[in-house]
Amino acid sequence: MIIVTGANGKLGRAVVEQLLERVPAGEIGVSVRDVVKAQNLQNLGVRVRQGNFEDSEGLLHAFEGASQVLIVSSGTLGEAGIRHHRTAIDTAKKAGAGQILYTSHMGVSPVSYFPPMIHHAATEQLLANSGAAFTSLRNGFYAASAFPLFSEAIQTGELIAPEDGPIAWTTHADLAKATAAILIEHKFEGSTPNLTAAEAIRMDDIASMASELIGRPIRRVVVSDDEYRDRLISKGTPKAAVNMLLGIFRASRNGDFAQASGTLADLIGHAPTSFREVLKESLAHQQN
Ligand SMILES: NC(=O)c1ccc[n+]([C@@H]2O[C@H](COP(=O)([O-])OP(=O)(O)OC[C@H]3O[C@@H](n4cnc5c(N)ncnc54)[C@H](OP(=O)(O)O)[C@@H]3O)[C@@H](O)[C@H]2O)c1
Repeated sequence: MIIVTGANGKLGRAVVEQLLERVPAGEIGVSVRDVVKAQNLQNLGVRVRQGNFEDSEGLLHAFEGASQVLIVSSGTLGEAGIRHHRTAIDTAKKAGAGQILYTSHMGVSPVSYFPPMIHHAATEQLLANSGAAFTSLRNGFYAASAFPLFSEAIQTGELIAPEDGPIAWTTHADLAKATAAILIEHKFEGSTPNLTAAEAIRMDDIASMASELIGRPIRRVVVSDDEYRDRLISKGTPKAAVNMLLGIFRASRNGDFAQASGTLADLIGHAPTSFREVLKESLAHQQN
């Protein structure tokens, strides 16, 4: 049985939906914190069990009979998040899973300017030390994560942000389809190549795309990191979020998210969704 954690979240749920298109529902199990939210999966024949990375005993029950476990990272940073992933890895091993998959990230590094990358690097190290067969999915940066960086510019006509580097923005839907393919076809031992859309783009590309799509000019304005930080703080942005946002710019300038690869396209059998398509759909949605 393939077990998917975080199946009430965006990526986990999309992976389960992709799996359902390719394998019988009875071969899929989900480990979720709230079983009520997964009732519709249960109705389809998916095994739904309660599992929380903070409760190893309950998690073992949720992982029972696992041939593979897809650990969707919990999104908790720092020691607590690493503890979550350690528990999930140890429990998957205990449950006898032949393969443990983990949603890591392109640009993973123990010394990254972007805090989640340090966290993913620590989890990859846990996987490497676990002695289990594992696949670390080097997911591209979610396209959805780009929106907070420029959405204000749609109103103001100015995309104000620090100098940036190219980022291979990638959709949840494409990553979910690729993940299902990896689970079913048993591809990749160790780290995957980066699973990304076809190209990495910069903020000035986003400004031009948005400008063209809305039919109004959007000017890219480069400010220093300090000025950007002050602007965010003056808007009441919490400190942790300020560090995360600045981290994206610093790490992207370092080239950490620039390496697009054709692996995702090969896995899903078609060209991944481009950022232009994502933006077009989002803007059309906003206008309705
Ligand atoms: N590639 C990227 O660019 C990128 C960007 C942002 C985040 N991420 C990472 O990718 C992960 C999945 O993305 P997403 O969009 O699907 O996020 P999401 O919708 O927030 O889903 C996260 C899932 O993690 C589950 N979770 C949280 N704490 C848990 C715990 N203690 N035990 C078990 N499960 C727990 C949540 O459970 P509930 O449904 O019960 O809340 C949720 O289902 C994120 O959590 C984050 O680590 C990647």
